[in-house]
Amino acid sequence: MNHLVAPSILAADFANLQRDVEMINNSEADWIHVDIMDGMFVPNISFGFPVMNAVNKHATKPLDVHLMIVDPDRYLKNFKDAGASSITVHYEACPHLHRTIQHIKELGCKAGVALNPHTPVALLKDIILDLDLVLIMSVNPGFGGQKFIENTYKKVFDIRELSFKHNTDLHIQVDGGIDPENAAKLVIEGANVFVAGSSVFSSADPSLAISELKHAGITSRS
Ligand code: DX5
Ligand code: ZN
Repeated sequence: MNHLVAPSILAADFANLQRDVEMINNSEADWIHVDIMDGMFVPNISFGFPVMNAVNKHATKPLDVHLMIVDPDRYLKNFKDAGASSITVHYEACPHLHRTIQHIKELGCKAGVALNPHTPVALLKDIILDLDLVLIMSVNPGFGGQKFIENTYKKVFDIRELSFKHNTDLHIQVDGGIDPENAAKLVIEGANVFVAGSSVFSSADPSLAISELKHAGITSRS
């Protein structure tokens, strides 16, 4: 299966949000990545429900919500109601991760777990069967425009190995500092969903940048 591309709306021009969502709608992107930051789990605040509702009003592609917030259970239903198709919570923010994952699935959303750069993949062994998605953070969460951390390749390989044993349908997503070059290498290690903010929205042609990510590592474009 070809890999998926999820442009992050965090890097969009919020004064032209409808234009940027429509650009994604008309591009080769598969999902729209929605980064929620609370100023507690991460040192930055992004946006909340009014902005997400505005995105949802115009989006024709699934909203992939990445919650960088403490105690995400408080808001799961609100994110579902704001249009979330998948909801990813941080391993580091969930003391009762199994319960949180069941809650997301009961709401009818795909359930994901994100790992910070320092968190070992092996910690997911006893929950991986319950997951639709694992998000390997390739930067420390909180800000767009950071440099890709090289150890990510190994972590993607490790989660791929774990998924071969326990959950072959698992989506393996990578988020932070993604461009066509590292995406091509990550495909080889087993990643199949790429989040990209800066490399898309700082491009002179964001739709072309999405297309280049979509075809990264694929030599034939038949
Ligand atoms: C970082 C967010 C990312 C961010 C990626 O905390 O989770 O989704 O938007 O931005 P870039 O692609 O600029 O690293
Ligand atoms: Zn993200």
